[in-house]
Formats: sequence, structure tokens, C-alpha cells
Amino acid sequence: MDFTLHVWRQGTPGSKGDFETYQAKNVAPSMSFLDMLDLVNEELTRDGGDPIAFEHDCREGICGSCGMMVNGMAHGPEDLVTVCQLHMRSFSDGDELWIEPWRADAFPVMRDLVVDRNAFDRIIESGGYISVRTGSAPDANAVPVPKPDADKAFDAAACIGCGACVAACPNASAMLFTAAKAGHLSYLPQGQPERYERAIQMVHQHDEEGFGNCTNHGACQEACPKGISVDYISRLNRDVLRARLAGVAFDST
Ligand code: SF4
Ligand code: FES
Repeated sequence: MDFTLHVWRQGTPGSKGDFETYQAKNVAPSMSFLDMLDLVNEELTRDGGDPIAFEHDCREGICGSCGMMVNGMAHGPEDLVTVCQLHMRSFSDGDELWIEPWRADAFPVMRDLVVDRNAFDRIIESGGYISVRTGSAPDANAVPVPKPDADKAFDAAACIGCGACVAACPNASAMLFTAAKAGHLSYLPQGQPERYERAIQMVHQHDEEGFGNCTNHGACQEACPKGISVDYISRLNRDVLRARLAGVAFDST
């Protein structure tokens, strides 16, 4: 298969970027999207050019490192896959592909397709943890958790922090990510003591980072490779409301 690629190239953060056109030739349908970029990079390097910078690690849809817009869609056209698990058989021979980094003020472009997602780490640092003493690891099933709650916690914990939800959202909101990270704790007994402080702290940090508000478009849920539901956003909003009514205040220390 052959493709014409229009790839966003940007040398440094804040510099002016633009699309460059490349030909990807003799691409096997079984190759992943990242394998295809590797192929283009090999040729670029051989010709003395600058390889296209993109993030990757596991290439198995687990780590959340990879991510880019392909023809305006976060992680490309397939549902529930990261771009490392997107295969070239999903496209037609001769297709033109427009490849861009995530676009959001809170995710500044570092180089080409690589963005700085440290804002996500700071949201987790602000409250996405448990600091109460839970003792040593209990025996399996010693802490009873209703099955529906365990399932909800597990589904939220599937978030890999890729950032596709932000890239897909017209407001560049990170509420799906924040809600998933708060949600996987709020469904478990160990997460209860700090549940409402956590909601206030994480949403405050979300706003501080410059992510936009959620206005219920649902594009995040559609783009999420892990199928995280917007129901978690409703739950987080309810927790924030309950916290405010109970007088829980933001703690800046
Ligand atoms: S909620 Fe989904 S799209 Fe957003 S960071 Fe987590 S896995 Fe990625
Ligand atoms: S490289 Fe790990 S999820 Fe894509």
C-alpha cells in the first residue's frame, strides 16, 4: 500500500510549525500506524533528513504514550484503539493522511507530534491517590466490594492517560481523564475518606492547567480508546457539588 502523508513538523516548543508532505511506499496492511511512521523515518534518516518525532513505548495500547490526530480524529478512524494498535489495513491504498499532534493550550507541542502531557500528572498529584493508612495488603476478598462497584472502579482504572479525550473535545476539556482518575478511587472503600476533598482538589487543578469546561459534547467518550463513559464526569460533578454544599474548601497547601 502507498500513502501520501501530510505531517505536522515543528522544531521546538513555541516555534512556527507547518505540514510537510511525504510518501509512504510499500506499506504492509498488517503494519501498525507507528510501524508505517518508522518506515518513513528510516527513509528520511537514510536521506540525511530529520525523522518525525512521535511518542511511543509499549505499542500494545497499554502505556498511553502514543497519540496523534489522523485525518482530524484522535487515534485515527477505528473505535477503541490507540494509534499504536491502528493497522494500515484500516485505510485504502492511495489514501492521503493528515497527521497532527494533540491541539490544546494545556498540551504544548514539544516537537512534531510530541506534546507535553505533564498537566495530567499534576492533576493526579493534586488528589488522585489515597493517603489514609490501609495497613498491609489484605487477603483477597477480605474487603467486601459490591460487584457493580468493583466493575465501575475497574472500568475507570482502564484510563491510560493518553489525552485523546482532550484532543477530541471542542473545549479541550480534560474532565473525562480527571473523572476517570477520581472515579476509580471513589467506587472503592479505601477511597471514601478523601473522596470529596479529592474531587475539589482535582477539578481545581484541572482548571488551573488551562483545560476547558465540559459542555456535554461527548466527543471525549467517542475518542477514548478505553471506552471510558461520560457517566464518570456526572459522578465527579455530583461529588464536587456535595463537597461544596458540605463546606469542603480547596486546600492550597
Ligand atoms: S479518559 Fe480515555 S481518552 Fe482520556 S486520557 Fe483516559 S484513556 Fe485517554
Ligand atoms: S505506545 Fe503504549 S499505548 Fe500506544
